[in-house]
Amino acid sequence: MKVLVAYYSLSGYTESLAKAIVVALGGATSGGGGPAGDAAGSPPSGFRVELFEVVPAKPYSYFSAGVKGVTQAMAGTIVELAGEPPTDEGFEALVVLSPTWGWMSSPPIRSFVAALPDGAGRPAVVGVTHAGGPIGSFDRLAGLVEERGYRVLERLSVFCYDRAAIRAAAELTAAALRAQTG
Ligand SMILES: Cc1cc2nc3c(=O)[nH]c(=O)nc-3n(C[C@H](O)[C@H](O)[C@H](O)COP(=O)(O)O)c2cc1C
Repeated sequence: MKVLVAYYSLSGYTESLAKAIVVALGGATSGGGGPAGDAAGSPPSGFRVELFEVVPAKPYSYFSAGVKGVTQAMAGTIVELAGEPPTDEGFEALVVLSPTWGWMSSPPIRSFVAALPDGAGRPAVVGVTHAGGPIGSFDRLAGLVEERGYRVLERLSVFCYDRAAIRAAAELTAAALRAQTG
């Protein structure tokens, strides 16, 4: 199963979660992403994993995230992204991860989700990292992904400073996707 692990991260916590998920799925995180596993045949885990960093065309600083990003997150603003969105053929299952900004998912992830191909029932895991107050950001992200036609298996909500929680969320994701491979 081809799994796309997409994330946006300003300060690195969501990136850590994304990379922990790639490892839990049996992939490698070095070399900047790309299909992971045994290039000569099927990877032993049964997953081919691609790590996909969502990059806004105008990157945020901590300052602009605070003064502008939160307002955009709460208003549901779509921002321009660098690079191309994933193609329909590019993945069979989706993992999409965002920091919580103003109790919502971040504008880059909202924009990424809006540009996704129709899910057509494909399985997905959504997740947020937060600093103690997600206040349902994971549910709202799950709603956006479901609106695009994906079947959300898990909604992760991870306190960003808790490394054990990051590992547990990665294991939960791998178990949920493994159950889909029959
Ligand atoms: C602009 C901004 C807004 C934030 N809003 C919230 C929030 O509403 N609730 C919360 O628990 N954490 C909030 N945080 C903390 C981040 O969600 C948390 O530190 C997250 O793990 C950062 O992920 P990253 O390192 O991948 O960017 C906010 C952080 C920033 C920079």
